[in-house]
Amino acid sequence: MELQSGNVKLRPLHLSDAGRMVPLANNEKISRNLRDGFPHPYTMADGEDFLSRFADQDPTYFFAIEYKGEYTGNISLVPGQDVYRCSAEIGYFIGEPFWNKGIVTEAVTLICEYGFKQLGIARIHTGIFEYNTASMRVLEKCGFTKECVFRKSVTKLGKLWGEVRYSKINPAIEEV
Ligand SMILES: CC(C)(COP(=O)(O)OP(=O)(O)OC[C@H]1O[C@@H](n2cnc3c(N)ncnc32)[C@H](O)[C@@H]1OP(=O)(O)O)[C@@H](O)C(=O)NCCC(=O)NCCS
Repeated sequence: MELQSGNVKLRPLHLSDAGRMVPLANNEKISRNLRDGFPHPYTMADGEDFLSRFADQDPTYFFAIEYKGEYTGNISLVPGQDVYRCSAEIGYFIGEPFWNKGIVTEAVTLICEYGFKQLGIARIHTGIFEYNTASMRVLEKCGFTKECVFRKSVTKLGKLWGEVRYSKINPAIEEV
């Protein structure tokens, strides 16, 4: 599955992405915004372990983000289970050299359209650590709604932080 808009392309991850992914992922300015499962330092073994689980999926839930043909980062939709099976959590990062070019805004737009139209997902959601204003801006540009703050729910950088919850509902679904 490939999705494209202008210079931004989403494509399945491959094991061979490790060589480009690991140097970009090995950045504390990225890991501070993500769960501890995305470690710092980020080693080649971390990258290979991640890719061995999520490369070349069918259907695709984890994508590489390419910009002008170059690997820049990852974006994913993780479907929920049980009563949450019509929801999916979105997650993403791109390497620092590529920040503020509109790349993730385009990638989020593409994966939401895919999730809603092709996968039939009803709700796409995520939580953003309260200090990550750039990521909040991305979701707001993509039509997500801020729902609430889970107060003091995140332990990161040796402190407790709020998590700002965002969601977007499939436009084909009527909200009650
Ligand atoms: C957050 C992140 C995904 C943004 O990706 P990006 O491709 O740079 O995003 P875009 O260029 O599409 O949009 C960024 C927006 O945030 C704004 N922005 C950037 N830094 C900001 C800051 N410190 N405070 C407020 N807004 C900021 C930009 O100006 C831009 O908004 P604009 O178009 O209105 O000017 C990227 O920086 C990243 O991967 N960070 C580390 C991992 C991460 O935070 N993942 C998300 C976890 S929820």
